[in-house]
Amino acid sequence: MAIARNQVNELLYQALETEMGGVKVYESAVRCAVNGDLKKEWTEYLDQTREHERVLRDVLEKLGLDPEAQSPGRQIVRHLGESLVMAMALAAKSGGPPEAAQIVAAECVVLAETKDHTNWELIGKLGRELGGPDGDVLKAAYDEIEDQEDEHLYHTKGWTRELWIQSLGMPAVLPPPEEVKKVETAIGAARAEQGRDEMLKERPAKR
Ligand SMILES: [Fe+2]
Ligand SMILES: [Fe+2]
Repeated sequence: MAIARNQVNELLYQALETEMGGVKVYESAVRCAVNGDLKKEWTEYLDQTREHERVLRDVLEKLGLDPEAQSPGRQIVRHLGESLVMAMALAAKSGGPPEAAQIVAAECVVLAETKDHTNWELIGKLGRELGGPDGDVLKAAYDEIEDQEDEHLYHTKGWTRELWIQSLGMPAVLPPPEEVKKVETAIGAARAEQGRDEMLKERPAKR
């Protein structure tokens, strides 16, 4: 089967738009963060996401594509990103406790990062499959960024779970096991989550 080049371009446009939206999502999320560790982590991810946007613009140009070119799929990605920003703004001015808006922000980051992570996984696969100069461009970008995307997704998933647990009045592990154990794979995330009971025994639980 031949690689569908139009769809490769579509993926790259969507990936760029995801990162552009991601910058806005993190700017809002950082404002919603109450926990100091989380604020610090998201501020780091915001910087990394700005860098990802720059890298993808560079990738598109190296492949002879216009980073500003629009596609129907790209518009959907933009709409989703704007919706996440709106959801956080709604939560922040809802009059509820700031901890509730922080959880909304964590959920929004997980949604945004799920798409971001999938994009990069696909870019990595394409890099290996395409070969040639274009494949090398994708591979180099993937190698530079993939570990960060793993952290963005798995660590924030951990934060979301633990912040919910804390809000329910159960003992939470904060920062979450995924962050403490510096998880960078799906298997590692599953192991870290499994180990949370042990971590609770080792240190006093935060309620
Ligand atoms: Fe990213
Ligand atoms: Fe990301």
